[in-house]
Amino acid sequence: GLDTVAQAKLRAAYAAVDNHVKDGQVVGIGSGSTVVFAVQRLAQRVRDENLRVICIPTSFQARQLILENKLVLGDLNANPVLDVAIDGADEVSAQLDCIKGGGGCLLQEKIVASNADQLIIIADYSKIADYLGSVWKKGVPLEVIADCYVPIMRKLEKMGGKPVLRMAKAKAGPCVTDNGNFIVDCDFGVMQEPAKLEQQLLSIPGLVETGFFLQMAVKAYFGMQDGSV
Ligand code: A5P
Repeated sequence: GLDTVAQAKLRAAYAAVDNHVKDGQVVGIGSGSTVVFAVQRLAQRVRDENLRVICIPTSFQARQLILENKLVLGDLNANPVLDVAIDGADEVSAQLDCIKGGGGCLLQEKIVASNADQLIIIADYSKIADYLGSVWKKGVPLEVIADCYVPIMRKLEKMGGKPVLRMAKAKAGPCVTDNGNFIVDCDFGVMQEPAKLEQQLLSIPGLVETGFFLQMAVKAYFGMQDGSV
C-alpha cells in the first residue's frame, strides 16, 4: 500500500486529470513524484474512453513516463499550443504562486506551462503555505549557466540570499539539468513580494530561469490527510 502522502498525491493527480483533460487536447506533462500518478490516470482514461491526447513532456523523466505508459509523445515545436499542463510543486502559496524545481526540471516546466491555456497544480497537503519560503526551506531553485555559477552566487549573496550549488545524488559533482545547466538553491527566507525578487534574479546574466511560478497556476488540487481533495 501507499503511505498517506503518496495517497494524497494520487488523489490530487486523479482529480486533476479527471476534471481537466478532454478528448483531442494537447496536455503538458510535469515532472516529479505526483505527476507519475497523473500519467497513470491519463493512460487509464485513454484506454477506457479512447481519448486522443498528445502529451508534451517537461523533462527526461516526463518523456519516459509518457513512453512507458504508451501515450502519444509530442513536442512544443510540433504542438505549440497546449490546452492544459498538469504539474507538481514544492510549495504553493495562498495566491497559487509556486516554487518548483526541487526535481531540477524548472526550465522546461516553465516553458511548457507558459504555453498552456491552464496550469493545474497537483500536490499533497505538505506543500500548502501562506507565503513562499515558509514551508519549502531549501531555497528557490535557480537554473544557471555552468560557466558562471560562482559570480552568480556572489551576486545572490549581495542580494541577501544564501546560495548553495546543488550536488548530484548518485555521482560526484554538481547536479546537471536536462538542459546542461547547474542548479543553485538560494534561500531568501519567507518572501512576501516574490515578483520583485524574481525580476531582480532574471536580470542577472547567466541566470537562465527561476523556480518561481507566479500568477501562472489557475487551480491547485491538494490531497489532504483525511483523504479529501
Ligand atoms: C521538478 O523540477 C519540480 O518542479 C516538481 O514539480 C516538484 O519538485 C514536485 O515534485 P513532487 O511531485 O515529487 O513533490
